[in-house]
Amino acid sequence: MGAMTNSQPLLHQHGREIQQFGTVRQLPLGLSHDARLYSAQRLNQVLANTQILYALYKKHHWLMRGATFYQLHLLLDKHAEEQEALIDKVAERVQTLGGVAVGDPRHVAEITAVPRPPDGVEEVPAMLSRLLEAHEIILTDSRDAAGRVADLGDDGTNDLLVSDVIRTNELQVWFLAEHLVETPLVRA
Ligand SMILES: [Fe+2]
Repeated sequence: MGAMTNSQPLLHQHGREIQQFGTVRQLPLGLSHDARLYSAQRLNQVLANTQILYALYKKHHWLMRGATFYQLHLLLDKHAEEQEALIDKVAERVQTLGGVAVGDPRHVAEITAVPRPPDGVEEVPAMLSRLLEAHEIILTDSRDAAGRVADLGDDGTNDLLVSDVIRTNELQVWFLAEHLVETPLVRA
């Protein structure tokens, strides 16, 4: 039996890196190298923060407790799913610009600006506050990035940041923040 009839997969292959992180390939988008490089870098920061926020939502979805456990358990999972959709959109925008999207969680951890939570469980209001702070980091950074990429002519990235990242995060902030309002449960 010769090599032509051998269907054994070629396993354990290794090769050199063919594109380094922080570089952009040339694609015919009508955008300059510098504009694509800048957008990819800003998007990777948003991407890292969003991956951490997604993970924080899942963590707190699991660790939630108390009288409103079920409602918050479901809400945090819904927000996690919406953040997960953003992760894919932002990552694929980086690729669309010719860049390399940050993917490995250990690389994400090196890039993110969102503080690391304790490995254990915080009080419920502290968990919700922590999520709000992560949202605000993403919102502040995304608004600044949206303005700058628009100045460089990258309207597609501006639109993604404004229409998807900023609007989704703003809405989630509202839904979360309402759970930190002290309202009487029974007596007005
Ligand atoms: Fe779950």
